[in-house]
Amino acid sequence: MNPPASTRPPVTVEVHLAPDALESALSDEVRAGLTSTPRAIPPKWLYDERGSELFEEITLTPEYYPTNREAEIFETYAADIAAQSGADTMVELGSGSSRKTRLLLEAFQARGNFVRFVPFDVSEDFLRSSAETIAADFNDLEIHAVVGDFERHLGLLPKAGCRMFAFLGSTIGNLEPPARARFLAELADAMNPGDTLLLGTDLVKDVDRLEAAYNDAAGVTAQFSLNVLNVINRELDADFNLDAFTHVARWNPDEEWIEIFLRSEADQTVRVEALDLTVDFAADELLGIEVSTKFRPEKIATELGAVGLTIEQIFTDAAGDFAVTLARKA
Ligand code: SAH
Ligand code: TRP
Repeated sequence: MNPPASTRPPVTVEVHLAPDALESALSDEVRAGLTSTPRAIPPKWLYDERGSELFEEITLTPEYYPTNREAEIFETYAADIAAQSGADTMVELGSGSSRKTRLLLEAFQARGNFVRFVPFDVSEDFLRSSAETIAADFNDLEIHAVVGDFERHLGLLPKAGCRMFAFLGSTIGNLEPPARARFLAELADAMNPGDTLLLGTDLVKDVDRLEAAYNDAAGVTAQFSLNVLNVINRELDADFNLDAFTHVARWNPDEEWIEIFLRSEADQTVRVEALDLTVDFAADELLGIEVSTKFRPEKIATELGAVGLTIEQIFTDAAGDFAVTLARKA
């Protein structure tokens, strides 16, 4: 006899970025990025299946402290966060593996009125498997995964219930100031009065620790950066030579962000067949792939206040490395 089938409701998935839409967004953005000065590639293309796996590996390197610090905050304060938020639904933006989120889900479920989890990510296959992994351990939780771009599709998220939007891992720091202001305005606009935001932000600290977190000795971060060239090679029929570019991550004290580049090691020409585009790189030329902004508490307060969100509490880890802010829409 077969074992009885699980009685939990199946995970449902809603797709706002089907593979063809993704492909055309990739084409447009890579063309714009490779023909601008300085050259840059938008960071969401780092997260194909392989990129998502490599990011998880980064979080396990000894140098990359943010994940463990944020998890420490949840281990200490998840029950307080759940009680103060009072939400019955959690929407997680850029959810990835949702590994740390489990600590929050457990605390919300312990209160008894929590019903729904909505992980939202651009990386469809990884999102599907992460949602199934959560489902296997949370029997009473309704799980509705949404595939989309948090810079375009916030208005399409399910509106039911009293929601807490979780945006963790300091992913907000990967948006540059104009895009970040736009994103926060759209998010506040998508929130109903009473909904809350739980925002994870890495804090400004000692430069050596910051730079080490993006230059791990085992080279996982370098592989993660270089993987974006694999994505372009595969999806747009390009011929980037991964051995001819080097990962560079350095602190910019004026912007207070880590900036991450790929440096061309020689004069070279790259062909992107699907775009009918030929790009010349000079030796030492930098191709921008990401910034990771580090915050001060005043900056968090200013940016949330500007979109009408009221801070209820800022939680930090014992070392003061990372902050998790709970804010509410009036
Ligand atoms: N929240 C997890 C993962 C952070 S990595 C953590 O804290 O560890 C950033 C995540 O955001 C990845 O899963 C990536 O696929 C997703 N992401 C990046 N840009 C996105 C976008 N524009 N829209 C939706 N998801 C995005
Ligand atoms: N949100 C992560 C951060 O800013 C993303 C990240 C970690 C990242 N390591 C990276 C992005 C290396 C590009 C390259 O910390």
